[in-house]
Amino acid sequence: MTLVINHLSKAFNNNSVIDDISLDLESSSFISLLGPSGCGKTTLLRLIAGLITPDKGEIRHNDTIFYSSEQKVNISPDKRNLGMVFQDFALWPHMNVYDNVAYPLRAKKDTDQLNERVIEALSAVQLEHLKDRKIHELSGGQQQRVSLARAIISNNKVILMDEPLSALDATLREDMRHLIQSITKKYEMTAIFVTHDQYEAMTMSDQIIVLDKGKILQQGTPEDLYTKPATPYIAKFIGKGSDIQGTVVDKFFTTVTGLKFPIHFNTTPGPYTYIIRPESVKIDNSGYPAQIQSVSYTGERYEYVALLDETPIMFYDSNKLSIGSTVNLNIQILNHFLFKQEEQ
Ligand SMILES: Nc1ncnc2c1ncn2[C@@H]1O[C@H](COP(=O)(O)OP(=O)(O)OP(=O)(O)O)[C@@H](O)[C@H]1O
Ligand SMILES: [Mg+2]
Repeated sequence: MTLVINHLSKAFNNNSVIDDISLDLESSSFISLLGPSGCGKTTLLRLIAGLITPDKGEIRHNDTIFYSSEQKVNISPDKRNLGMVFQDFALWPHMNVYDNVAYPLRAKKDTDQLNERVIEALSAVQLEHLKDRKIHELSGGQQQRVSLARAIISNNKVILMDEPLSALDATLREDMRHLIQSITKKYEMTAIFVTHDQYEAMTMSDQIIVLDKGKILQQGTPEDLYTKPATPYIAKFIGKGSDIQGTVVDKFFTTVTGLKFPIHFNTTPGPYTYIIRPESVKIDNSGYPAQIQSVSYTGERYEYVALLDETPIMFYDSNKLSIGSTVNLNIQILNHFLFKQEEQ
């Protein structure tokens, strides 16, 4: 049971927006589409939903062909049986909570046990007590939960979500993150979740697909993407880190300013970009001096940025250090963060 996309392309006014994308998404998994503004996330979601028509390619869900340019198949959005949750919630403002949730079933004249199903969906999002409220009498988080209940009720196995948390404040986002995760697992939904927030993607997903300019840059588990990023761009997009240029010769990475760090793995000599993850930087008397530029207290630790030969380096430490003071820093060179320069 999978959602399969083969060689999908879409251009607007001759500008390619989705560029020959192929994907095989396992059912009941939570998949995030992650990428910068304008990279084609919403377009890909709307192509899957059938709200826009591709130029070329194929979209298939199990044995059903949603779209095929070769076979000239294009089934309408309402026949694709997909749940949708959007950024602006898309609720009916003049209806109350109950009627908004019941709406998709009434529209399909699928009203068997309507009341039981509406109440079940409302209780799944903990909104049963507000069923008679009008939409405009709800908070943003409550409105978002109504749109989630409406997606649950149709019992669709695939749910498409376009930045559903972006309109919410930090605390509500956290609650909704957990609610969306538990509901999609409980109802064994395949969730395709669009976000440009790497933290959301990392914490919620089974698989992350990183898009840029309509192409897939990398697909993998959050762990894969964090520990083995395919490019320096992904390394910086998925986690924190600064880059430093240098050369690999004789088991050392030597920066352009002459700082030398040992390498404990085999790699070919030449020019490299190294992405320094904060956790690979340690205060160490044998390290190079760096000046603390900024400090942020996060509760469990301090996050520092220090200047090491003009390069801002981020690192964590449990002790408080003052801005302007000098620390000696050692940088561990990790295999998966060393990128040959022509690979960029
Ligand atoms: N109907 C349209 N007509 C013309 N261009 C469009 C249309 N829809 C999207 N585009 C363009 O396609 C590109 C991708 O847009 P899309 O909305 O998919 O980006 P996105 O990744 O969702 O970005 P964001 O994070 O800002 O929501 C953009 O350059 C956008 O301007
Ligand atoms: Mg978008």
